[in-house]
Amino acid sequence: MWLRGLKEGGMQKTAIPERVDAKRGGTARTPVPMLDLERQYAPLRGELLEALGRVLETQQFILGEHVAAFERAAAEQLGVKHALGCSSGTDALWLALAGAGIGQGAAVVTTPFSFFASVSAILRAGATPVLADIDPVTFNLSPAAVETVLDGKRGAGVKAILPVHLYGLCANATAFSRLGRERELTIVEDAAQAWGAEWNGVKAGGLGDAAAFSFYPTKNLSAAGDAGMVTTNRDDVADRVKMLRNQGMRRRYHHDELGWNARMDGFQGVVLTVKLKYIGAWNEKRRTLATRYGALFAKAGLAESGPYPAHGVVTPRESPGAKHVWHQYVLRVVRRDALREFLTAGGIGSEIYYPVPLHRQEALKGLGYGEGDFPEAERAANEVLALPIFPELREDEQETVVAAIAEFLS
Ligand SMILES: Cc1ncc(COP(=O)(O)O)c(C=O)c1O
Repeated sequence: MWLRGLKEGGMQKTAIPERVDAKRGGTARTPVPMLDLERQYAPLRGELLEALGRVLETQQFILGEHVAAFERAAAEQLGVKHALGCSSGTDALWLALAGAGIGQGAAVVTTPFSFFASVSAILRAGATPVLADIDPVTFNLSPAAVETVLDGKRGAGVKAILPVHLYGLCANATAFSRLGRERELTIVEDAAQAWGAEWNGVKAGGLGDAAAFSFYPTKNLSAAGDAGMVTTNRDDVADRVKMLRNQGMRRRYHHDELGWNARMDGFQGVVLTVKLKYIGAWNEKRRTLATRYGALFAKAGLAESGPYPAHGVVTPRESPGAKHVWHQYVLRVVRRDALREFLTAGGIGSEIYYPVPLHRQEALKGLGYGEGDFPEAERAANEVLALPIFPELREDEQETVVAAIAEFLS
């Protein structure tokens, strides 16, 4: 079964691939899915079913021993002091912010080019989102743009920076740590797409005061439903996150603060514990596939140096010092929408993350931004196209994807 119409954070639809009119997509080709989770499930089937059975046998459904075991293994793998399971990446962002004391009266600088939750979680925490533009090469929050914002009229009241490690590439943690130190700002990482990614040898999740991960089924490390995690090296943040995710209770039925039900369940705990053993190898496979895409586009004479595309494609790169985990492999290309239609007609999966920058979202009109405020984010939203990349993607499938793009661009 294929995953179609994938929207990060949105409903996940599954469907048998339709018969495609190969003519409309150019030369007839074997379809290539954007993501095929059945290929991951098949070799893990026995292990996963046994693990799920253990939850039923022990009846430990909410938090409990299975989630605790995952938390211990996750903290060890990431090299952080605390890893706390919760109900989703969105909740993890809210918990990380609220746990770090960011709430009413605080402003938080983040990117307009991300999934909606990066900004909505700031509002949920009672704080005010302040946006700064992205770097056109990495698509991540630009430290220079953040500095400009901090010195401008929206800079007053900023208490935190929330960089997003978009597509699995860490935002510039050196620059954000320096800004944090110099201006006494809290750093909260949105690491939803970046399990295993590194910056100068330190894993995402340990690059700031607190971090949020998502285990949404399309993520590199994925649950069998909604789940998320907060990581931190700060004992005070960990204590608050534990309290907030469980209705504000430290002591049963004594509510210290207005917490919420944001707990992880045991089924997700065991599924994630099983997959945690394989995520390192899966990320390495993604890295190999990304290098191979780069070589295939270069061989086809399509790769341009960028940052903006002229006639061919600008292929994504790893920043110096970073270890990319390729949650997505995202090109910049002109006539993006026409290319996508061509690929879809040929049965080749692709996605646009994200077609509408956050300052142009109806729900965020109240932030008071308008068209033209973040030209890099707006341009990226018109040019980006994510191609199939998942550990089980075959070499012949990659060749099919690149050949189809070459045909469209010829
Ligand atoms: C960058 C980013 N932040 C936050 C989230 C929210 O995670 P979730 O869908 O698990 O709530 C997602 C994923 O959907 C994401 O991609």
